[in-house]
Amino acid sequence: MSAEIEKKMAPVHIPVIAIDGPSGSGKGTIAHRVATRLGFHVLDSGALYRLLGAAAQRHAVAVDNEAALEVLAAHLDVQFLVDDQGEAQILLEGEDVTNAIRTEEAGRAASQVAALPRVRSALLARQQAFREVPGLVADGRDMGTVVFPAADLKIFLTASAEARAERRYRQLLEKGFDASLAALVEDIQARDDRDTQRSIAPLKPADTALVLDSTDLGIDAVVQRVFDAASAVPALAKYL
Ligand code: DC
Repeated sequence: MSAEIEKKMAPVHIPVIAIDGPSGSGKGTIAHRVATRLGFHVLDSGALYRLLGAAAQRHAVAVDNEAALEVLAAHLDVQFLVDDQGEAQILLEGEDVTNAIRTEEAGRAASQVAALPRVRSALLARQQAFREVPGLVADGRDMGTVVFPAADLKIFLTASAEARAERRYRQLLEKGFDASLAALVEDIQARDDRDTQRSIAPLKPADTALVLDSTDLGIDAVVQRVFDAASAVPALAKYL
């Protein structure tokens, strides 16, 4: 076979940027900004765990019933859409749950089901399937360590628990939800503990991750640092 044909048959490299970090670190916003600039897809992996938590509630499955949750995860009927106004819309079994899965209660259920190894395996291939041309920005806790260990760029975004709780507080008020700042700090700390201490795929920076602390950095500054890092990676630089 000629070198020319061999080159044409070689699998196309689909670049991935993994953005991991704790709840409220701004991963979602940063992931969307970076993806928009590069023209890449986005995987909001936390939404999948939130959806599973919601499905568990809907089907009266306890958040520690690993066998039943594994089945539910394997058959999770979800759709990630964009509505007429260009806003992201998430359907669970055909029903719009875009806002319902963003409550603190949904986050807590997500963190509980996410601690179960068989649930994580059942969702692995579904997450990896988001890697489509031209590329993917994957947002979560274990994107750079487990789901996309060969990601072209790994970012670990963090911020103090207080700063994250305050951001969450403002977001919830803006969306018209009731919220208590003190309760949010407590909740964020409990969720951090559960996410970092679980035995499987705990929240931690990948060895080669660029760690960014956004406590005192605005969104634009964080996005700029991600672009600076991306510009040093040939597979990504061509999209900038
Ligand atoms: O990013 P988020 O707050 O929407 O995530 C909700 C929960 O899902 C989080 O507390 C832990 C879990 N999660 C996870 O274990 N692994 C991921 N890749 C993403 C989220």
